[in-house]
Order: sequence, then C-alpha cells, then structure tokens
Amino acid sequence: MSAYETLKTGLQAAPKTWLVTGVAGFIGSNLLETLLRLDQRVVGLDNFATGHQRNLDEVERLVSAEQWARFRFIEGDIRSLADCRAAMCWQPRSPEEGEGLAQRVDYVLHQAALGSVPRSLDDPITSNAANIDGFVNMLVAARDAGVASFTYAASSSTYGDHPGLPKVEDVIGKPLSPYAVTKYVNELYADVFARCYGFTTIGLRYFNVFGPRQDPNGAYAAVIPKWTAAMIRGEEVFINGDGETSRDFCFVDNAVQANLLAATTTDAAARNQVYNVAVGGRTGLTQLFAYLKQALADNGVRYDREAVHRDFRAGDVRHSQADIGKAGRLLGYAPRFDIEAGIRSAMPWYIRFLG
Ligand SMILES: NC(=O)c1ccc[n+]([C@@H]2O[C@H](COP(=O)([O-])OP(=O)(O)OC[C@H]3O[C@@H](n4cnc5c(N)ncnc54)[C@H](O)[C@@H]3O)[C@@H](O)[C@H]2O)c1
Repeated sequence: MSAYETLKTGLQAAPKTWLVTGVAGFIGSNLLETLLRLDQRVVGLDNFATGHQRNLDEVERLVSAEQWARFRFIEGDIRSLADCRAAMCWQPRSPEEGEGLAQRVDYVLHQAALGSVPRSLDDPITSNAANIDGFVNMLVAARDAGVASFTYAASSSTYGDHPGLPKVEDVIGKPLSPYAVTKYVNELYADVFARCYGFTTIGLRYFNVFGPRQDPNGAYAAVIPKWTAAMIRGEEVFINGDGETSRDFCFVDNAVQANLLAATTTDAAARNQVYNVAVGGRTGLTQLFAYLKQALADNGVRYDREAVHRDFRAGDVRHSQADIGKAGRLLGYAPRFDIEAGIRSAMPWYIRFLG
C-alpha cells in the first residue's frame, strides 16, 4: 500500500480536526471534499474574495449528510487576527455531537491567499495584505492554539528568474512579481516561526494546479479552465507568446495528497521544510492546447479553431518543471495523475459546469 493509502486508512480509523483556509476556493474545496469523505472534522475559513459558495454547495452534494455535518464554515478574513483565532476550534452544534466538547484544530492547511501574478502586478497592496499580513496572522493564531502542524500553500513562482531545470527546492532565483515576493516571504516567516517558537510548518510549492472547481472566469483565471471554457463555448483561445512556454501542470488530487502527507508526518527530518508539489513533467502551451482539444473530442465536444498567438505576459517565467524527489523521499508523495490523466479526469466536470 502507498504511504497515502496507509495514511487515509489511519485517518478514517482515528479522525482528526482540520482547518482549511481558502476553503471556498479551488484547492481548499478539494481538500474539504477529501477530508470529509475520510470522516474528518473540518473547520473552513474564507471571505469569498475569489472563492464561491457554489464550491461549498458542490462538496455538500458529493459527501454524505453525516460527513457534511462535520464541517463548520466561518465566513471571515485572514487579515483579521480575531477571525484566524476563531477558526482554530471546531465547535459541536449540540451536546451529543463530538461528546459535547469543542475540539482544538490538529492540522492547519492554509490555502487562503490572492493568487495570480497579473493580479499582484495590478494591485500589489491588496495581494500583500492577504498573502503576508494574513499569513502572519494565521501563523500567530495557529502557534497560540498549539496545533500539531501548519501546512501552507507556497508557490513555484519562488524560483523566479533562476533558469535551472528541473527546479530543486534549495536553488531559487529572484522573484519576478509581487505575488512571488509574497509567497517567498511566507517561506521566510514559516522558517522563522519554526526556529524561534519550535512550531512545525511545511510549505508546499504548488506548480500550476488544475482540476474541478478552478475558476474559469475573470482576468486572472488560470490557463486550463480559461481555455477549456472558451473551447466549450466555441470562443477564441489565446496563447501568450510562441506556445513553447512550459509548465509542470499538476492535477489537484496530487496537491491534496501532498497536503495530507505533509500535515501528518511524524518524521522530524520532513518537518519545517518546503517541497515541490507537481508531477515532474513539462508541457508546452501548444501541447496543452492539443491535449484539451483531444479530451474535449473524446467527450463529444468539437473545437475546430486554431489558437491565436499574442504577446508574452509580464512576470511570467518561461519554463517550469519540478524535481519532486524530495517530497517522494521525505513524505512518501507519489502523484497518481500525470497531466493527461488529470485532464481526462476533469473534463466531464468542465463540460458540465463551464459550458
Ligand atoms: N492554483 C495554483 O496553480 C496555485 C499555484 C501555486 C500556489 N497556489 C496557492 O494555493 C492557494 C490556493 O489557490 P487556489 O488556486 O485554490 O485559489 P482560489 O482563489 O480558488 O482560492 C483561494 C481562496 O482564498 C480565499 N481568500 C483570499 N483572500 C482571503 C482572505 N483575506 N481571507 C480569507 N480567505 C481569503 C478566497 O476567497 C479563495 O476561496 C493560494 O495560496 C495560492 O496562492 C495555487
């Protein structure tokens, strides 16, 4: 059995209490779904800045009523320390539930942030407030609550202008955007909290995560849901640059796996580290377009147009590919989906909800 399967069996036998921030967002709602399916207690915190009630409603439809009853949602903002503190405890709704006792959160999975490089270029102040001030609030609240571990969403953007491929955790360049600065500062703060307060933090540098519930709308949408929605609607697809820009696209199931393994690790060598979370592959944008076209065709949706090329986008790195050896060695991380399997798995959802 894989480390992930063993962990899931153990969690089901002895449920824990989790806090997922950014729970109404893409990755957060996928974490929520997996944790509830494993009969865990979950507190969720979100201010709906970029997340949606519809994501929570969808999770409610996908789990049993009993599992959904173990979820507590707090509409709140990580820029408020009081909101962060309130989220560190799971409250029973009745004396019968949870033996009538409030449960302190065991594991924090901190996902709340303002994503997107272009958003941060347009409005660095707001990105800074959510991604740095909010992050420090969460660290302080989690430290004071005495949680067992604090796992947070870091980013491949931290590799910045370093040209080396594949990306190895301890070799980074200079950040290329305000967003990248915020995510690097997260790592610095997490490391300092580990050193100064003996607190356990684990950073997960996600590489272009995609899958169900990722927002296809707006100027800051990620490439896969944005293109897929356009293709389903028969609209134009734009490639920024020559089409050779490449990414290590990571299906969300892999990111969920990394979070659960990281949060629960008891190996001292694995704690207070950052890890690449990806597949270890590299796909160019022209190739990605072809994969999406094929997966749509396999599901009976034809898209006959060619993509339209336009200028490169400011702040974007040219190529990105992860070395995932460290997460494999120290956490037992083994991605179950490569890009094609991820697209195949997500396509029915895209067709149902993005059309
Ligand atoms: N999706 C990716 O490819 C990717 C890559 C690298 C890093 N990340 C990081 O992963 C995390 C999750 O990203 P996602 O793709 O699910 O994005 P998302 O926008 O779908 O989710 C982020 C969630 O955080 C919430 N949020 C934002 N500011 C908040 C605040 N001040 N208080 C409370 N909630 C707030 C939003 O409402 C949203 O629900 C983010 O930290 C992001 O920077 C994502």
